[in-house]
Amino acid sequence: MRVVIAGQGYVGLPLAVRAAEVGHQVVGYDVDERRIKRLALGESYVEDIPAERLRPLLESGVYQPTADPAEVAGFDVAVITVPTPLRDGVPDLSYIESSARLLARYLRPGATVVLESTTYPGTTEELLAPLLEQGSGLTAGQDFHLGYSPERIDPGNPTWKLENTPKVVSGTSPAGLAAVDGFYAQLVERTVPVSSTKEAELTKLLENTFRHVNIALVNELAMFAHDLGIDVWEAIDAASTKPFGYLRFTPGPGVGGHCLPIDPSYLSWRVERALGQSFRFVELANDVNSHMPDYVVRRLTEALNDRQRSVNGSRVLLLGLAYKKNTGDARETPAARVAELLVRMGAEVRAADPHVVVGVHVPDPVIPGQRAAEPDSHGDPFAAVRRVEATPQELAAADAVVLLADHDDFDYEAVTTHSRYVLDCRRRLSGAAVEVL
Ligand SMILES: NC(=O)c1ccc[n+]([C@@H]2O[C@H](COP(=O)([O-])OP(=O)(O)OC[C@H]3O[C@@H](n4cnc5c(N)ncnc54)[C@H](O)[C@@H]3O)[C@@H](O)[C@H]2O)c1
Repeated sequence: MRVVIAGQGYVGLPLAVRAAEVGHQVVGYDVDERRIKRLALGESYVEDIPAERLRPLLESGVYQPTADPAEVAGFDVAVITVPTPLRDGVPDLSYIESSARLLARYLRPGATVVLESTTYPGTTEELLAPLLEQGSGLTAGQDFHLGYSPERIDPGNPTWKLENTPKVVSGTSPAGLAAVDGFYAQLVERTVPVSSTKEAELTKLLENTFRHVNIALVNELAMFAHDLGIDVWEAIDAASTKPFGYLRFTPGPGVGGHCLPIDPSYLSWRVERALGQSFRFVELANDVNSHMPDYVVRRLTEALNDRQRSVNGSRVLLLGLAYKKNTGDARETPAARVAELLVRMGAEVRAADPHVVVGVHVPDPVIPGQRAAEPDSHGDPFAAVRRVEATPQELAAADAVVLLADHDDFDYEAVTTHSRYVLDCRRRLSGAAVEVL
């Protein structure tokens, strides 16, 4: 089949590669020409897709990255994996809308369109279907198939990949569900059909809201436990031995990426708009998690104070700018807020992160042996931060070191040996100079 994947980011690229590997003719369409140029050269900016996996597909011509909208023509299946950000707290579906308008131009009877971008329940039927119908003159569920299948990609997870993670699938009609299910059944080990696109849309938001709320719970607990003089990490370890009814979540400096800071707000926005009610769990989790960077700075201020130092004039080394270990993804990263607060208070802030590219807000991870991307136009939240490597000299020269993202490739022995004081937000370290969040 000719398959078009609109959006070649963290979600779209792995999907395109997988579809090409199972034998489809895949067009990877993206409006970002810089990304497309890199892909065409066989350079991947998604760490889970090494260049060695990409290149044979390019050479054999089964995967074709393009920024030319005309190349979308003739598709049997099109999947939309474009961003769904919030603008001033309101869902911004403009990327889905523009993809829909483009696909509608080339939509043919019998073809299938699937939305994968995370969004509020109702989007596929209420927004996507009308745009596709108006642009094509065809009817969803009758002339073409339409469905929703939420992405569960977990960047950097070595165990759970696209192939072995069950995939929820749905359609706006029984035939639509069968078409969507049939497509994904070739790509993944197990599909999970649900009865309508709304249930599929809600499934994704339930999963993300569940994580968001549980992380907020342990974050709030960590703050109280510290003030009560109780080791929350030990309590979490002990609770985690319960074989039923408990799931382990751990405190941290805040949440980042797309799934947690943004997606639950899609749900609360929908609830508010449709029912006039607030989704209190989401509001509370947003409140707790978004204030964690402030708490990190408070703890650091106290630690410096104990050493007769002020933040103003201190040298602080941040380790890990990505929102998550072992990835170069700095979208919505709490490290940006920590850095901003410290700079504002007069600290000399330096940072080490071998994964996050300097000067790039939506960063392409540096992959060994490949050149780094040019800075893009989104602006750099770490512009006031000097980027360094975590050498023994840098560690020793810092008044305080803050471990924010515990990438596996940091030399932790050097961190504990040379640092004067470490605030460990991930409980990765131990030693006399280490204090855990
Ligand atoms: N990254 C994750 O871990 C993850 C997990 C689950 C769900 N999601 C969801 O998947 C969606 C995509 O996320 P992502 O992480 O892949 O984002 P991303 O920013 O990595 O990639 C999106 C890509 O879409 C491109 N794009 C924008 N407008 C376009 C258009 N009109 N046509 C074609 N391409 C266009 C962008 O240039 C970008 O390359 C979001 O809704 C997100 O919430 C992401």
